[in-house]
Amino acid sequence: MKFNETAYKDNLVDQIKKLKKETDAYILAHNYQRDEIQAVADLIGDSLELSRAAVKVRNKVIVFCGVHFMAECAAILNPTKTVLLPVKEAGCPLADMATPEKLRDMKKKYPGVPVVCYVNSSAAVKAESDICVTSANAVKVVNAMKEKRIIFIPDKNLGTYVSQHTDKEVILWEGFCATHINLTEEEVVKMKKLHPGAKFLAHPECRKEVLALTDHIASTSGILRYVKESPEKEFIIGTESGILYRLKQMNPDKKFYLPSQHLTCANMKLTTLGWLTRSLKNMQYKVTVKEPIAAKARRTLERMLEIV
Ligand code: 13P
Repeated sequence: MKFNETAYKDNLVDQIKKLKKETDAYILAHNYQRDEIQAVADLIGDSLELSRAAVKVRNKVIVFCGVHFMAECAAILNPTKTVLLPVKEAGCPLADMATPEKLRDMKKKYPGVPVVCYVNSSAAVKAESDICVTSANAVKVVNAMKEKRIIFIPDKNLGTYVSQHTDKEVILWEGFCATHINLTEEEVVKMKKLHPGAKFLAHPECRKEVLALTDHIASTSGILRYVKESPEKEFIIGTESGILYRLKQMNPDKKFYLPSQHLTCANMKLTTLGWLTRSLKNMQYKVTVKEPIAAKARRTLERMLEIV
């Protein structure tokens, strides 16, 4: 018998809907998730929107379709809920580039300088930091701080972008997103030649040479908003491929071009309908953050949410 993929997926979607009700679960999905995961989610968003949403969820269970640090944030911000990450191995190489030990060494080198940590970091690193940022609010948060000098961890590209939009001194960390780093200046130039009328939009985790070629720089949801409001019809998209699902859905009359074949985050794509079904069936994998790390990391996240 021939394998019928559509019937297989439809069956999983039915199971997910049923299990969601039975377990009183709410599904959050990042803009980079597979199309079929975004289609069954209760809410899709960027890191900031999902953090805000996680605080407000009233259901007993939050299933976080994203990567580990995102589920950790939900568990920190809404500690009375059961937070599930469908695939245990869904991590973030960028988050792994900063450790609390290395950060403590950095703090010793720059005593008294506050640490601004990108949300793509572990709870332990957040606990060692002063305030958190996402790509959507990094510039605003840094500019709202009173200090004239900050340490920015772990993304060097986002940190550089922030440094170009503030008069503060930004001390950088040598971290990068393993997906966005793949996009090169040459690829963008080539794509621009192929589509001269297209606007180039990119995520601030891209290299600075790539960001120099943009018409607009924003978080994933910022890119979605920009395209929706723009009268333009063609866009070159400098971020992870998962964003194309909502871009196309929200703008059926517009055209999108990915400038590189290497803009897919393997970790984000680990979550499948099968794993989501198993997650709801077996209540796996629970993400918890122990005290006192949780309380310290919560403060770091809440300081950000109080600003924007
Ligand atoms: P945003 O969720 O802020 O758009 O950032 C994307 C990202 O790189 C998440 O890891």
